[in-house]
Amino acid sequence: MDTIKSQQVTFKVFRFNEETDYLPYYNTYVLDVTHEEVVLDILNRIKWDHDGSLSYRRSCRHGICGVCSIKVNGKGILACKSRLFDLINVFGSELTIEPLSTKRVVKDLIIDKKDFWDKHAAIQPFLVSDIEEHPAQEHLVSPHDAEKLLEADYCIQCGACHYSCPALAINEEFIGPAAFAAAYRFSADVRDDASIERLHTVNQEAQGVWDCVKCMECAEVCPKDVNPIEKITKLHNMIFEANIAKNNVATRHAVGFAHSIQKHGLLDEGELVRYSEGNIGVMKHLPEAIAMFRNGKIVMPWNMPKSKNLDEVKKLIQSSSTVKF
Ligand code: SF4
Ligand code: SF4
Ligand code: FES
Repeated sequence: MDTIKSQQVTFKVFRFNEETDYLPYYNTYVLDVTHEEVVLDILNRIKWDHDGSLSYRRSCRHGICGVCSIKVNGKGILACKSRLFDLINVFGSELTIEPLSTKRVVKDLIIDKKDFWDKHAAIQPFLVSDIEEHPAQEHLVSPHDAEKLLEADYCIQCGACHYSCPALAINEEFIGPAAFAAAYRFSADVRDDASIERLHTVNQEAQGVWDCVKCMECAEVCPKDVNPIEKITKLHNMIFEANIAKNNVATRHAVGFAHSIQKHGLLDEGELVRYSEGNIGVMKHLPEAIAMFRNGKIVMPWNMPKSKNLDEVKKLIQSSSTVKF
Protein backbone atom coordinates (compact mmCIF):
# COMPACT_ATOMS: atom_id res chain seq x y z
CA MET A 1 0.00 0.00 0.00
CA ASP A 2 1.32 3.47 -0.96
CA THR A 3 1.77 5.85 1.97
CA ILE A 4 1.28 9.55 1.21
CA LYS A 5 4.56 11.26 2.10
CA SER A 6 3.59 14.90 1.42
CA GLN A 7 0.52 16.94 0.72
CA GLN A 8 -0.33 20.46 -0.38
CA VAL A 9 -2.13 22.44 2.31
CA THR A 10 -3.58 25.96 2.34
CA PHE A 11 -2.84 27.80 5.58
CA LYS A 12 -4.79 30.91 6.57
CA VAL A 13 -2.80 32.60 9.30
CA PHE A 14 -4.29 35.22 11.65
CA ARG A 15 -2.38 38.52 11.69
CA PHE A 16 -2.81 41.51 13.97
CA ASN A 17 -0.45 43.98 15.58
CA GLU A 18 -2.11 45.88 18.41
CA GLU A 19 0.30 48.77 17.90
CA THR A 20 -0.35 49.37 14.19
CA ASP A 21 -3.50 47.51 13.03
CA TYR A 22 -7.09 48.61 13.41
CA LEU A 23 -8.53 45.23 12.35
CA PRO A 24 -7.08 41.71 12.10
CA TYR A 25 -6.56 40.04 8.72
CA TYR A 26 -5.40 36.64 7.42
CA ASN A 27 -2.39 35.79 5.23
CA THR A 28 -2.65 32.72 3.02
CA TYR A 29 0.23 30.33 2.30
CA VAL A 30 0.07 27.21 0.14
CA LEU A 31 2.76 24.77 1.25
CA ASP A 32 3.71 21.13 0.75
CA VAL A 33 3.78 19.44 4.13
CA THR A 34 5.36 16.11 4.97
CA HIS A 35 3.89 13.43 7.20
CA GLU A 36 6.42 13.97 9.99
CA GLU A 37 5.86 17.74 10.29
CA VAL A 38 4.04 19.35 13.20
CA VAL A 39 2.29 22.74 13.14
CA LEU A 40 5.31 24.46 14.70
CA ASP A 41 7.43 23.35 11.71
CA ILE A 42 5.01 25.15 9.39
CA LEU A 43 5.04 28.32 11.50
CA ASN A 44 8.85 28.22 11.41
CA ARG A 45 8.86 27.72 7.64
CA ILE A 46 6.48 30.64 7.12
CA LYS A 47 8.60 32.85 9.36
CA TRP A 48 11.97 31.81 7.95
CA ASP A 49 11.06 31.52 4.24
CA HIS A 50 8.10 33.88 3.68
CA ASP A 51 7.49 36.52 6.34
CA GLY A 52 9.91 37.17 9.19
CA SER A 53 7.40 39.42 10.92
CA LEU A 54 5.06 36.52 11.88
CA SER A 55 5.04 36.28 15.69
CA TYR A 56 4.27 33.24 17.83
CA ARG A 57 5.60 31.67 21.01
CA ARG A 58 7.74 28.55 21.16
CA SER A 59 10.27 27.19 23.59
CA CYS A 60 10.72 23.54 24.57
CA ARG A 61 9.42 21.90 21.35
CA HIS A 62 8.56 18.83 23.43
CA GLY A 63 5.05 19.54 24.74
CA ILE A 64 6.34 20.54 28.15
CA CYS A 65 6.36 24.33 28.46
CA GLY A 66 2.85 24.96 27.07
CA VAL A 67 3.69 28.28 25.39
CA CYS A 68 3.03 27.23 21.78
CA SER A 69 -0.69 26.60 22.24
CA ILE A 70 -2.81 28.06 19.42
CA LYS A 71 -6.02 27.13 17.61
CA VAL A 72 -6.27 25.29 14.31
CA ASN A 73 -9.74 25.42 12.76
CA GLY A 74 -11.04 26.44 16.19
CA LYS A 75 -9.44 23.54 18.09
CA GLY A 76 -6.88 24.29 20.79
CA ILE A 77 -3.58 22.47 20.15
CA LEU A 78 0.09 22.53 21.06
CA ALA A 79 1.84 23.58 17.84
CA CYS A 80 4.92 21.49 18.69
CA LYS A 81 2.94 18.27 19.30
CA SER A 82 0.19 18.35 16.67
CA ARG A 83 1.06 16.56 13.47
CA LEU A 84 -0.22 18.15 10.27
CA PHE A 85 -1.42 14.86 8.84
CA ASP A 86 -3.61 14.22 11.91
CA LEU A 87 -5.20 17.67 11.50
CA ILE A 88 -5.66 17.15 7.74
CA ASN A 89 -7.48 13.88 8.52
CA VAL A 90 -9.96 15.79 10.67
CA PHE A 91 -10.29 19.15 8.88
CA GLY A 92 -9.12 18.57 5.30
CA SER A 93 -6.41 20.51 3.46
CA GLU A 94 -7.45 24.08 4.44
CA LEU A 95 -6.23 24.96 7.90
CA THR A 96 -6.88 28.23 9.70
CA ILE A 97 -4.27 29.08 12.30
CA GLU A 98 -5.36 31.51 15.02
CA PRO A 99 -4.35 32.56 18.52
CA LEU A 100 -6.09 30.92 21.49
CA SER A 101 -8.18 34.05 22.00
CA THR A 102 -8.61 36.56 19.19
CA LYS A 103 -9.69 39.30 21.59
CA ARG A 104 -6.48 39.12 23.66
CA VAL A 105 -3.97 39.36 20.81
CA VAL A 106 -0.79 41.34 21.28
CA LYS A 107 0.76 40.32 17.97
CA ASP A 108 -0.37 37.60 15.54
CA LEU A 109 -0.51 34.33 17.53
CA ILE A 110 0.75 35.85 20.79
CA ILE A 111 -1.91 36.67 23.35
CA ASP A 112 -1.91 38.39 26.71
CA LYS A 113 -2.74 35.59 29.20
CA LYS A 114 -3.06 37.92 32.19
CA ASP A 115 -6.62 36.81 33.00
CA PHE A 116 -5.45 33.18 32.94
CA TRP A 117 -2.55 33.83 35.33
CA ASP A 118 -4.64 36.06 37.63
CA LYS A 119 -7.24 33.35 38.04
CA HIS A 120 -4.56 30.75 38.54
CA ALA A 121 -2.97 32.88 41.27
CA ALA A 122 -6.36 33.45 42.96
CA ILE A 123 -6.75 29.78 43.84
CA GLN A 124 -3.34 29.62 45.60
CA PRO A 125 -1.67 27.08 43.27
CA PHE A 126 0.88 25.96 45.85
CA LEU A 127 0.98 23.99 49.08
CA VAL A 128 0.01 26.03 52.11
CA SER A 129 1.51 24.34 55.11
CA ASP A 130 2.84 25.42 58.46
CA ILE A 131 6.02 23.38 58.21
CA GLU A 132 8.95 23.47 60.57
CA GLU A 133 11.87 25.41 59.19
CA HIS A 134 14.32 22.59 59.96
CA PRO A 135 12.25 19.36 59.99
CA ALA A 136 13.90 16.24 61.41
CA GLN A 137 12.45 14.09 58.63
CA GLU A 138 10.62 14.29 55.30
CA HIS A 139 6.85 14.66 55.21
CA LEU A 140 6.15 11.51 53.24
CA VAL A 141 2.97 11.09 51.18
CA SER A 142 1.76 7.51 50.91
CA PRO A 143 1.19 6.09 47.40
CA HIS A 144 -2.52 5.91 48.27
CA ASP A 145 -2.65 9.65 49.06
CA ALA A 146 -0.51 10.52 46.02
CA GLU A 147 -3.00 8.71 43.78
CA LYS A 148 -5.72 11.13 44.89
CA LEU A 149 -4.02 13.92 42.94
CA LEU A 150 -4.93 12.03 39.75
CA GLU A 151 -3.58 13.70 36.59
CA ALA A 152 -4.04 17.24 37.96
CA ASP A 153 -0.26 17.48 38.36
CA TYR A 154 0.34 17.08 34.62
CA CYS A 155 -1.01 20.55 33.73
CA ILE A 156 1.51 22.66 31.78
CA GLN A 157 -0.60 25.85 31.96
CA CYS A 158 -0.93 26.06 28.20
CA GLY A 159 -4.36 27.71 28.55
CA ALA A 160 -5.98 25.66 25.76
CA CYS A 161 -8.85 24.60 28.03
CA HIS A 162 -9.28 28.09 29.49
CA TYR A 163 -9.66 29.75 26.08
CA SER A 164 -11.93 26.99 24.74
CA CYS A 165 -14.37 27.09 27.66
CA PRO A 166 -17.82 28.36 26.62
CA ALA A 167 -18.73 29.31 30.21
CA LEU A 168 -15.73 31.64 30.26
CA ALA A 169 -16.50 32.99 26.79
CA ILE A 170 -19.80 34.40 28.05
CA ASN A 171 -18.69 35.22 31.59
CA GLU A 172 -15.23 36.76 32.09
CA GLU A 173 -15.53 36.23 35.86
CA PHE A 174 -15.67 32.44 35.55
CA ILE A 175 -12.46 31.07 37.07
CA GLY A 176 -11.95 28.46 34.37
CA PRO A 177 -11.02 24.78 34.03
CA ALA A 178 -7.23 24.99 34.42
CA ALA A 179 -7.45 26.96 37.67
CA PHE A 180 -10.11 24.53 38.95
CA ALA A 181 -7.82 21.59 38.14
CA ALA A 182 -5.05 23.32 40.09
CA ALA A 183 -7.43 24.07 42.97
CA TYR A 184 -8.25 20.37 43.12
CA ARG A 185 -4.59 19.35 42.87
CA PHE A 186 -3.56 21.34 45.96
CA SER A 187 -6.77 20.85 47.97
CA ALA A 188 -6.50 17.06 47.53
CA ASP A 189 -2.92 17.07 48.84
CA VAL A 190 -2.77 15.71 52.39
CA ARG A 191 0.01 18.19 53.27
CA ASP A 192 -2.08 21.25 52.41
CA ASP A 193 -3.81 23.42 55.01
CA ALA A 194 -5.71 25.83 52.73
CA SER A 195 -8.25 23.51 51.16
CA ILE A 196 -11.28 25.11 52.88
CA GLU A 197 -10.15 28.57 51.81
CA ARG A 198 -9.69 27.34 48.24
CA LEU A 199 -13.07 25.58 48.28
CA HIS A 200 -14.70 28.87 49.29
CA THR A 201 -13.00 30.55 46.31
CA VAL A 202 -14.25 27.97 43.80
CA ASN A 203 -17.69 27.89 45.43
CA GLN A 204 -18.45 31.54 44.56
CA GLU A 205 -21.57 32.19 42.53
CA ALA A 206 -21.05 33.24 38.89
CA GLN A 207 -17.32 32.45 39.15
CA GLY A 208 -17.01 29.04 40.65
CA VAL A 209 -17.47 25.40 39.75
CA TRP A 210 -21.27 25.58 39.80
CA ASP A 211 -21.28 27.65 36.62
CA CYS A 212 -19.54 24.95 34.58
CA VAL A 213 -21.98 23.68 31.94
CA LYS A 214 -20.27 20.27 31.73
CA CYS A 215 -19.66 20.49 27.98
CA MET A 216 -16.44 18.40 28.30
CA GLU A 217 -14.54 20.75 25.96
CA CYS A 218 -11.74 21.22 28.52
CA ALA A 219 -11.22 17.46 28.72
CA GLU A 220 -11.18 17.08 24.94
CA VAL A 221 -8.79 19.92 24.22
CA CYS A 222 -6.23 19.23 26.97
CA PRO A 223 -2.95 17.96 25.48
CA LYS A 224 -1.92 16.43 28.82
CA ASP A 225 -5.13 14.54 29.64
CA VAL A 226 -5.62 16.51 32.84
CA ASN A 227 -9.38 16.09 32.42
CA PRO A 228 -10.38 19.32 34.25
CA ILE A 229 -14.11 18.46 34.24
CA GLU A 230 -13.36 15.40 36.39
CA LYS A 231 -11.54 17.67 38.88
CA ILE A 232 -14.49 20.09 38.83
CA THR A 233 -16.81 17.22 39.78
CA LYS A 234 -14.41 16.27 42.60
CA LEU A 235 -14.53 19.88 43.82
CA HIS A 236 -18.36 19.68 43.84
CA ASN A 237 -18.09 16.70 46.18
CA MET A 238 -15.45 18.36 48.35
CA ILE A 239 -17.68 21.42 48.72
CA PHE A 240 -20.55 19.22 49.93
CA GLU A 241 -18.22 17.24 52.22
CA ALA A 242 -16.91 20.46 53.78
CA ASN A 243 -20.52 21.52 54.33
CA ILE A 244 -20.03 24.86 52.60
CA ALA A 245 -22.33 24.29 49.61
CA LYS A 246 -24.76 27.18 49.16
CA ASN A 247 -28.41 26.56 48.49
CA ASN A 248 -28.67 27.53 44.80
CA VAL A 249 -29.99 26.11 41.53
CA ALA A 250 -26.74 24.29 40.75
CA THR A 251 -26.35 22.60 44.15
CA ARG A 252 -30.06 21.68 44.25
CA HIS A 253 -29.59 20.21 40.74
CA ALA A 254 -26.80 17.97 42.07
CA VAL A 255 -28.91 16.91 45.07
CA GLY A 256 -31.99 16.34 42.87
CA PHE A 257 -29.95 14.20 40.48
CA ALA A 258 -28.77 11.90 43.28
CA HIS A 259 -32.29 11.84 44.78
CA SER A 260 -33.85 10.76 41.46
CA ILE A 261 -31.34 7.98 40.85
CA GLN A 262 -31.81 6.73 44.40
CA LYS A 263 -35.60 6.71 44.05
CA HIS A 264 -36.00 5.32 40.51
CA GLY A 265 -32.58 4.08 39.41
CA LEU A 266 -33.26 6.43 36.46
CA LEU A 267 -33.22 10.16 35.90
CA ASP A 268 -36.62 11.84 36.28
CA GLU A 269 -35.99 14.96 34.15
CA GLY A 270 -39.28 16.65 35.12
CA GLU A 271 -38.74 16.16 38.84
CA LEU A 272 -35.13 17.35 38.48
CA VAL A 273 -36.33 20.76 37.22
CA ARG A 274 -38.82 21.02 40.10
CA TYR A 275 -36.11 20.06 42.59
CA SER A 276 -33.62 22.60 41.19
CA GLU A 277 -35.86 25.55 40.40
CA GLY A 278 -39.03 25.00 42.47
CA ASN A 279 -42.66 25.08 41.25
CA ILE A 280 -42.33 28.62 39.86
CA GLY A 281 -39.26 27.53 37.91
CA VAL A 282 -41.28 24.66 36.44
CA MET A 283 -43.81 27.22 35.09
CA LYS A 284 -40.93 29.08 33.41
CA HIS A 285 -39.97 25.91 31.52
CA LEU A 286 -43.54 24.90 30.63
CA PRO A 287 -43.17 25.20 26.81
CA GLU A 288 -40.03 22.98 26.86
CA ALA A 289 -41.73 20.59 29.29
CA ILE A 290 -44.73 20.18 26.98
CA ALA A 291 -42.42 19.55 23.99
CA MET A 292 -40.42 16.99 26.03
CA PHE A 293 -43.62 15.30 27.23
CA ARG A 294 -44.90 15.01 23.63
CA ASN A 295 -41.60 13.43 22.60
CA GLY A 296 -41.66 10.95 25.50
CA LYS A 297 -38.64 12.55 27.22
CA ILE A 298 -40.54 13.12 30.46
CA VAL A 299 -43.55 11.39 31.98
CA MET A 300 -46.14 12.27 34.61
CA PRO A 301 -44.75 11.65 38.14
CA TRP A 302 -47.13 8.73 38.73
CA ASN A 303 -45.96 7.06 35.49
CA MET A 304 -42.24 7.33 36.24
CA PRO A 305 -40.75 3.83 35.69
CA LYS A 306 -38.22 2.24 38.03
CA SER A 307 -35.03 0.50 37.00
CA LYS A 308 -35.31 -3.27 37.26
CA ASN A 309 -31.96 -3.16 39.05
CA LEU A 310 -33.06 -0.53 41.57
CA ASP A 311 -31.82 -2.49 44.61
CA GLU A 312 -28.41 -2.86 43.03
CA VAL A 313 -28.32 0.85 42.07
CA LYS A 314 -29.19 1.80 45.68
CA LYS A 315 -26.38 -0.38 47.03
CA LEU A 316 -23.92 1.17 44.55
CA ILE A 317 -24.93 4.68 45.59
CA GLN A 318 -24.57 3.75 49.26
CA SER A 319 -21.12 2.25 48.81
CA SER A 320 -19.80 5.04 46.57
CA SER A 321 -21.29 8.09 48.29
CA THR A 322 -18.87 10.33 50.12
CA VAL A 323 -21.49 12.96 50.80
CA LYS A 324 -24.74 13.05 52.78
CA PHE A 325 -27.07 15.60 51.18
S1 SF4 B 1 -16.76 21.36 31.09
FE1 SF4 B 1 -17.07 23.25 32.26
S2 SF4 B 1 -15.04 24.07 32.64
FE2 SF4 B 1 -14.85 22.51 31.03
S3 SF4 B 1 -14.98 23.70 29.12
FE3 SF4 B 1 -17.07 23.03 29.58
S4 SF4 B 1 -17.97 24.69 30.81
FE4 SF4 B 1 -15.74 25.03 30.76
S1 SF4 C 1 -5.54 21.57 32.06
FE1 SF4 C 1 -4.65 20.88 30.12
S2 SF4 C 1 -5.43 22.31 28.58
FE2 SF4 C 1 -5.76 23.24 30.57
S3 SF4 C 1 -3.97 24.53 30.89
FE3 SF4 C 1 -3.51 22.55 31.86
S4 SF4 C 1 -2.49 21.36 30.28
FE4 SF4 C 1 -3.43 23.10 29.23
S1 FES D 1 7.10 24.67 22.59
FE1 FES D 1 6.85 23.96 24.61
S2 FES D 1 4.94 22.94 24.59
FE2 FES D 1 5.27 23.52 22.53
